[in-house]
Amino acid sequence: MLEKAREWIREARSVAVLTGAGISAESGVPTFRGPGGLWRQYRPEELATPEAFRRDPRLVWEWYDWRRQRIAQARPNAGHEALVRLERSKPRFWLITQNVDGLHERAGSRRVIKLHGDIWLVRCVACGREQRDERVPLPELPPRCACGGLLRPGVVWFGEALPPGAWEAAEQAVREAEVLLVVGTSAVVYPAAGLIPLAQACGARVIEVNPEETAMSARLDCSLRGPAGVILPALIPSEPNVQTG
Ligand code: OAD
Repeated sequence: MLEKAREWIREARSVAVLTGAGISAESGVPTFRGPGGLWRQYRPEELATPEAFRRDPRLVWEWYDWRRQRIAQARPNAGHEALVRLERSKPRFWLITQNVDGLHERAGSRRVIKLHGDIWLVRCVACGREQRDERVPLPELPPRCACGGLLRPGVVWFGEALPPGAWEAAEQAVREAEVLLVVGTSAVVYPAAGLIPLAQACGARVIEVNPEETAMSARLDCSLRGPAGVILPALIPSEPNVQTG
């Protein structure tokens, strides 16, 4: 299986990657579902919806501030780094991520499409101004804009539309890709999960990297069971021109 997947990746000129929380698990960033997942401990409707923010912006911000602190302490892992090598070795490459932690960019990935926003962005609910704020912890909760309005995290909450352009870019990437590599996602949150059947319908080979079976595993060409930090370096050799296996 690993050999086959390695060959598909090596031979493809265009590659898209879809990542989820699992790729950052080995960096110490908790996932949402599964053992140790955030949604085991917290209710998404109390923390990750526009209604929750309207009801109690301070509570929502306390949770985001805590996550920002966890992420600030994290470092990209061997899985993130392998995807940087892959990007450098392919003329056509897109990294579509559901993650808001910014670890792909910190590892050196450039062609990143962020479907669910960025935890380091804050946006004013009154004037709409968006800015980067990497302070941890934030000095005041909830933070405020210069205009006096409330700032919210620059992430996508349940029930909200994806950032303008991101979905179109992701769909386009998947349509063009010969291989879609799906890493560390439970593939249950839409529309992101819909990129997998779309890729298949457009003729791409889909390779999954995940220690567990997922909602999509059964329909995929190749499911590699194991942590991203181990499987991705095995799948993507350190020297793009060195043929292994
Ligand atoms: P999930 O928490 O749903 O799924 C994480 C996946 O990572 C699971 O399938 C795990 O088996 C897998 N996993 C765990 N450790 C891993 C490792 N070391 N290497 C590879 N895989 C590993 O996270 P997402 O699929 O990203 O959205 O969740 C999708 C969306 O739901 C998130 O973007 C977030 C969440 O609610 C919003 O907040 C809008």
